[in-house]
Amino acid sequence: MLRGDSENQLVRTFRPRRRRLGAEMGDVYERLIDQWSIDEDGDRFDPRDSFVDATTTILEIGCGRGDLAVSYARDHPNDALMAIDVHTRGIANMLAGIERHGLTNLRVVEGDAQVFVNRLADDSLDEVWVFFPDPWPKARHRNRRLLRDDLIGTLTRPLRVGGALRLATDIEDYAVTATRSIAAHGAFGPPVEGRPDWRIETVFERRGSRDGRGAIDLAWTKTSQPQA
Ligand SMILES: C[S@@+](CC[C@H](N)C(=O)[O-])C[C@H]1O[C@@H](n2cnc3c(N)ncnc32)[C@H](O)[C@@H]1O
Repeated sequence: MLRGDSENQLVRTFRPRRRRLGAEMGDVYERLIDQWSIDEDGDRFDPRDSFVDATTTILEIGCGRGDLAVSYARDHPNDALMAIDVHTRGIANMLAGIERHGLTNLRVVEGDAQVFVNRLADDSLDEVWVFFPDPWPKARHRNRRLLRDDLIGTLTRPLRVGGALRLATDIEDYAVTATRSIAAHGAFGPPVEGRPDWRIETVFERRGSRDGRGAIDLAWTKTSQPQA
């Protein structure tokens, strides 16, 4: 087991939800999960061994329903994407998308990214995406944010030098604190602002814009690999 911390020591970055899958999605899940998933925990995993022809290897953390993951994989057949979330509904939704579009370049991971990244080989990712992470707006909950001082190194360790960490958020304070934490981490250049043309609007983004919040898209390039 490659997990650095014991389960009890992880500060969870998500709200647990228990919702059952309906009959149709339950069937999709049961039929496809073994074929298209990667286990959250286990031996070291190098995605380049599974996606041998891929030109770009990406990890999307907190993919939610996975609509972006499916549309990106469909439109970029030469890129390989792993999409992780703890919620089974999103996983089932992506499995349905894989089947619908005949995708071979998308794998789902059902679990906690804090655990999964420990499996990934060094330098095995070209991009890490965190789009509309849970905002944890209350000051006492800020230590649950994904992009925070003590987690950035863990989440981006498998990212190669020259690779990109991308964030989209509609919470200005999140963009500010993430920028500060990433600068303090020291392995990334300054953020570049701009929405990638492939980043479709997700349910969460739509909800924010209905409430008058616009998205902020930032990308940081990794400039050095901190030594473990
Ligand atoms: C606000 S939603 C945004 C979902 C999606 N990115 C979008 O734009 O619609 C945040 C998602 O991140 C997931 N999440 C939070 N922490 C996570 C973690 N440590 N590992 C995997 N998923 C996580 C939550 O379960 C939730 O589905």
